[in-house]
This record gives sequence, C-alpha cells and structure tokens, in this order.
Amino acid sequence: MEKKYYITTYGCQLNVHESEKLAGVLKQRGFLPATKLEDADVIVFNTCAIREGAEDRVFGNVGALKKLKKEHKDKIIAVCGCMTQQKAKAEKLYKIFPFIDIIFGTSNIYKFEDFLDKKTKRLLAYDEAFNLEGEKMPFYRTSGENAWVNIMQGCNNFCTYCIVPYVRGRERSRPSEDIINEVENAVKEGYKLITLLGQNVNSYGKDCGEISFSQLLKKVAEINGDFKIAFMTSHPKDLTSDVIDVIASNDKFLKEIHLPVQSGSNKILERMNRKYTVEKYLSIIDEIKSKIPNVRITTDIIVGFPGESEQDFEETCNLVKKVKYDGIFAFMYSVREGTVAEKMDGQISFDVKNRRVNKILELEKEIKKEKANGNN
Ligand code: 5AD
Ligand code: SF4
Repeated sequence: MEKKYYITTYGCQLNVHESEKLAGVLKQRGFLPATKLEDADVIVFNTCAIREGAEDRVFGNVGALKKLKKEHKDKIIAVCGCMTQQKAKAEKLYKIFPFIDIIFGTSNIYKFEDFLDKKTKRLLAYDEAFNLEGEKMPFYRTSGENAWVNIMQGCNNFCTYCIVPYVRGRERSRPSEDIINEVENAVKEGYKLITLLGQNVNSYGKDCGEISFSQLLKKVAEINGDFKIAFMTSHPKDLTSDVIDVIASNDKFLKEIHLPVQSGSNKILERMNRKYTVEKYLSIIDEIKSKIPNVRITTDIIVGFPGESEQDFEETCNLVKKVKYDGIFAFMYSVREGTVAEKMDGQISFDVKNRRVNKILELEKEIKKEKANGNN
C-alpha cells in the first residue's frame, strides 16, 4: 500500500511554502497526501511562533496525538518550523511529548530527508547556522493558481515585539538568476499568480550586492506569459519610489500593497523600533494612491503594545480613518520571549487589548461599508 503524509501548517505564507517543500521531499520518496491525519504514515506539524496563541495550538494539537501514536508505533511524527527554532521550546516539546520522533527548526529544514532516514529512535536537531540550503529542496505546490517564490530569507530589523529575526536569522537574498528561473518554470507550468516572498522584500539584494528589489520586479515582469505578480511583505521604511513606479507602470502587477503600519502613534512606533513616523508613512500612502489608481492597500496593526495609552490608540484609529484601508489584520500584542519589548514597562491587560482590537475591526467594517456605498 502507498505510504501517506499529512502536514499541518500554522502561520504565514513563508510557512505555507516551506510545507510545500516538505511535501516535495515526501512526494519524491513516493508518499501521497492523506486526506485525514489518522491515515498518514508521516505526520508533520510546521509551527509558527509569531504570537502565543499559535504556540498554544501546537501544544494542544500535538498533545492530542498521544493515543494515535500509542496504537500505531510505526507512524512518524515530526514537529518543525519557527516554534522549534527556539531552543527552549524545542526541548520542552521533546521532553513533554515522548511520542514525537523528529524535532527541527527552520534552520535545519533542508535536512528533512536525512532526518527521515535516521535510524535513531528520537531526534532533536537545533542550530542557528541559517543559510539558503532550503531553496534547493524540491517542492510540491499546493496553493491553486498561485506559486509562492522565495526571494529572500530572514530579517535584520528587530522590531522590538517580533520573534522573527530570532527564528529566521539575518537577511539572505537568493541569486536573482535562481528567482527568475523559478518564476519562468512556474509560468510555463501554468501558474497565473506569482507571489514573491520575503520577510522584508524591500531589502532584497542589500546583503549580497544583488540587483535592487525594483530591478528584480522589472526582470520578473519581463518574463513572457499570462500571469500576475504580487509580493509580500514590505516595510514602510524601505519602500522606495522606484518600487511604486514599477508597480504603477506594468499591468502584470496586482494593484495591491500590503504595508504594515503597526501603530499610528509616533511614540509607539519609536518604542517598536519601526524607524519611520506616522507622517512619513502617510506620505508613502499618498504617493502610492496618486501613482496607482484604485490601488488596494492593506495593513497589519498591533494593539496594546507596552505603553500604548488611550491617546496613542486614538492616534491609530485616526490613521486607519485617514488611510481607509481595504483590509486590516489587527492583532493583540503578544509577549515574545527574548525580545526587547518583553522587558518593557507598561504591559497592557487582556481586556484593554481586546477592546482595542474590536474597535479596529469595527472601523474596518465601517470603511468597507463606506466604500461599498461609493465613498472613497
Ligand atoms: N504580537 C502581536 N502581533 C505581532 N506581530 C508580530 N509580532 C507580534 C507580536 N509579538 C504581527 C505584526 C506583523 C504580523 C505578521 O504579525 O503585525 O506585521
Ligand atoms: Fe518582525 Fe519587524 Fe522583521 Fe517584520 S520587519 S519580520 S515585524 S522584525
């Protein structure tokens, strides 16, 4: 009988694409995707660490496998991703769930095939030797008409709330030639949307003397074929006019920009180490709107960052009303171990965070209604 696998993915698009790589390895070894976790011979949890809730779910869902593993000792259970790129969390999972066979972090994803072959009973692989080896893995695309294409890995920004720089390492850009090849192949295979991925796409090339992000966008747009291009995520401090100009000038680009603002208060932006002001952010938004007619602008907002007063929160609401976003991903601030904000004064209660997040969601609804009624 054919062997089967089942992968549960938490978190962002980067993780979704990495699960496509794990699937690629398994497919190459003759495994087929299972429709139910219980039917799989290899069960993988690709985890996220961005907020506490994501990690709690992993503990709950992995814990629930105890009985299954007891009844089917030959099943292989693997846990990988951002959560297990934190040493203490990886060790905790290893200790409290003895039925997990393989634990490894993002830095070791490219060794997945070796790990499957290991005859040792249990395995915990941890290091911080981040590289680009994962880009050589095969992949099995699972996102319909959309092909995810990594352009870079890691982040150098160290926003004070964020775990990403710790679990993904410093910025590493892929050679532009490899990116172009991958896009060409995806287009030939019939993918209609190419989404270029990176934690901080506007920094593309800066770590290695490659071409700039706007030059890369131009090259991708020159590829022949009937397809659209999207990218994520942009950091406002690095989004330059030449990038906006390229998007405006070519029909291949989706007229959509995701530009996380996080807060509308200069005091909080500074405490977050975001390196831009509200005024600067609004001037970029103005430029985008004036150069790209009917552009969709979406954002991420964190409410309840340490020290966020009612006044600071009001300022965020005002910014939301000004920009009239087409979509908002609003999050309650979640303390992340090892980040600078973990140690900051002024941590905010759950109730206040909850009220503020709901207020943002209400504003988003009002803006949608307004726009549906034809008021832009
Ligand atoms: N708490 C809440 N939200 C967070 N994000 C990142 N770190 C945290 C955190 N500690 C949000 C940011 C980011 C999005 C991907 O997740 O808004 O843009
Ligand atoms: Fe996190 Fe900031 Fe890097 Fe985005 S830019 S991944 S929020 S540290």
